Amino acid sequence: MIKNFFITFEGIDGSGKSTQAKLLIDKLASINLETLFLREPGGTSISEEIRSVLLNNRKDEMSSRTEALLMCASRAQLTKDIIIPEMKGGKWIVADRYADSTLAYQGGGRGIDLDWLIKVNHFATYGTQPDLTFYIDVDPEIGAKRRYTMVSDRIESAGLEFQKDIRAKYLEIVDKFSERCVTVDGNLSIDEISQIIWRITRDRTSIEKT
Ligand code: ADP
Ligand code: TYD
Repeated sequence: MIKNFFITFEGIDGSGKSTQAKLLIDKLASINLETLFLREPGGTSISEEIRSVLLNNRKDEMSSRTEALLMCASRAQLTKDIIIPEMKGGKWIVADRYADSTLAYQGGGRGIDLDWLIKVNHFATYGTQPDLTFYIDVDPEIGAKRRYTMVSDRIESAGLEFQKDIRAKYLEIVDKFSERCVTVDGNLSIDEISQIIWRITRDRTSIEKT
């Protein structure tokens, strides 16, 4: 029996993580593994309602602490209702964003102390950690160009400097959690990145031995 993995994708807006997360799930499914794709914030009815509060463009300014706590509240519901039971049931879970996004966005972008966020994340995730995290690294200018036709939500509207701060924090996080985090060059083509991710997934999991 192959041990199932919880794999997360991280990166700034427009880095290409959703594209790669979906390609990986297709590959895992093609070798008959039971898979589940998730994207944060969201994934349960309560978490989706929290997502609307978080991402809708509104005239009142949301405090950074409210933003961090709502991200974690959405995560707590998703983790308890879906991630923990589905991992126990043997599914391979691929998530487009998880706890590291709070460290990068609310830590790097909004300037909240990282140690606080790590503690709140630990509470929200019931101590659940991904087995493997792919961080797709791109320059914020490239991320913005790739997203130019898309409508921006409240957080994506915060601008280029904000994305630069997030990227800097991601680089710090990847270094801090280097045992589970792998940086992938997001400037390569979709196909090249997908091949790198598949090779690393095979190397780091038990798929290679099947
Ligand atoms: P994210 O989820 O990180 O915001 P997406 O995966 O939605 O990013 O990609 C944003 C846009 O960039 C999409 O139009 C996608 O097709 C395109 N894209 C994704 N990866 C690449 C890449 N490596 N090179 C060029 N364009 C890409
Ligand atoms: P989404 O449309 O899912 O963006 P993307 O396709 O880029 O992942 O919107 C999620 C937004 O919420 C995105 O700008 C990142 C932000 N976010 C945080 O600020 N903190 C978090 O903990 C999470 C999960 C997301």
